[in-house]
Amino acid sequence: MLGARGGWRALRRCASLPRAVRLRVREALGAREPADAVRVQGWVRSVRSQKEVLFLHINDGSSLESLQVVADPSLEKRDLTFGSAVEVQGKLVKSPHRMQNMELQAETIHVSFPLKMKERHPLEYVRQFPHLRCRNNTLGALLRIRSEATAGIHSFFQDNGYVHIHTPIITSNDCEGAGELFQIETSREAKESAEKTHFFNVPAFLTVSGQLHLEVMAGAFTHVFTFGPTFRAENSQSRRHLAEFYMVEAELSFTENLQDIMQVMEDLFKTVTSTVLSKCPCDVELFHKYIAPAQKGRLEQILKHKFMIISYSEAVEILKQAPQTFTFKPEWGCDLQTEHEKYLVKHCGEVPVFVVNYPYDLKPFYMRDNEDGPQHTVAAVDLLVPGVGELCGGSLREERLPFLESRLQRLGLTDAYQWYLDLRKFGSVPHGGFGMGFERYLQYILGVDNIKDVIPFPRFSHSCLL
Ligand code: 4AD
Ligand code: MG
Repeated sequence: MLGARGGWRALRRCASLPRAVRLRVREALGAREPADAVRVQGWVRSVRSQKEVLFLHINDGSSLESLQVVADPSLEKRDLTFGSAVEVQGKLVKSPHRMQNMELQAETIHVSFPLKMKERHPLEYVRQFPHLRCRNNTLGALLRIRSEATAGIHSFFQDNGYVHIHTPIITSNDCEGAGELFQIETSREAKESAEKTHFFNVPAFLTVSGQLHLEVMAGAFTHVFTFGPTFRAENSQSRRHLAEFYMVEAELSFTENLQDIMQVMEDLFKTVTSTVLSKCPCDVELFHKYIAPAQKGRLEQILKHKFMIISYSEAVEILKQAPQTFTFKPEWGCDLQTEHEKYLVKHCGEVPVFVVNYPYDLKPFYMRDNEDGPQHTVAAVDLLVPGVGELCGGSLREERLPFLESRLQRLGLTDAYQWYLDLRKFGSVPHGGFGMGFERYLQYILGVDNIKDVIPFPRFSHSCLL
């Protein structure tokens, strides 16, 4: 819409104006000194026309706060409405308002085509317009936070001596074994209805996890991590599932204790959250003020205390003794459902809770056998958090060749995982790791109800806009 030629021609003409320093809104707001010739480009957030003066607020995504522009009413044009792209040239002066440092006294205003969208819409409504919603305040704040959190995650791992690995997006294995794979074919293959050929000679899929590739790397580097897109063909419309999401995964060699893995999960969460809170206070405040009012205090408390730890067996006992009835009756050996996770977190005081040692038969082949009984478990850990449920999933990996061989054999996977067995034949060491869903992380710290509102272009069943 804004690429319309007439609109941008108007902006380009500005190049012939006397040279003015181009400032971003954030720079203009933070300027120490007034300046005579300044140019600011952005999108109109509000227009208020009075008899003597015209007020505009413009934003360019560099900060949550918009820059106030003060202009002569004669500069008002029909196209100057919420969402229009503008270039304002004028003088940057000290603002008489207590709440704002600087304002721009406009000499010229050039407008491109307006955006016909109201200023305030609920998140569900703007979700229909993935090509426009980044101009909305809430999404703008979210995207800046997402960007800082991404940098924070990389810094956390780099500062702690981890090597970043680009694990592949296209893979020939199903790490989680849950059958939620998207299979890849070329557009030509898709058209051929008869015998199928494979571009890669073997069926290939979009990755559901980088873990197995990280485990390869953990045979040469003791600490590795990856952070990239992950795909699951979950036919779910839930508010915490996406078909494409980002996952942070870490793998640590020479570790024999689930505690070590949990410590990294907890440190990652606390360090990145503290970074985000200190680097984007205004953006975070928007969420904690308007979207999830009690979240700020809760988060501050959580950052100060150790996360809780309970075993899966204890969790089932807690659920069995709950005064409420569940749709899915809690039984040892059954998966914890969303309603169960919610109850457990509430029971523990609405704080993050690690649940450890899950039933052997519930978990993927790579998890380490605890060799216990009669209730047979593996060294698995899930981190449950209020409002979201499972935020992280991890485990110690089965490093013992005979255990892994017999498990793969029972699953009929021995041939496909020869290379994985090789890792246990040559220099195998105890190791483990975890994955954290990045969108669920953002959902939790910001108190956002629906996961579709914390990713720029959500993909889920029956929806792939743009
Ligand atoms: O628990 P998951 O399935 O664990 C793994 O994939 C392991 N291989 C990770 C590892 O040990 N390296 O997924 C990890 C996390 C979940 O706890 C959840 O936060 C997120 O990924 N997740 C999803 N997030 C959004 N939409 C989905 N469909 C998700 N599925 C998992
Ligand atoms: Mg899981």
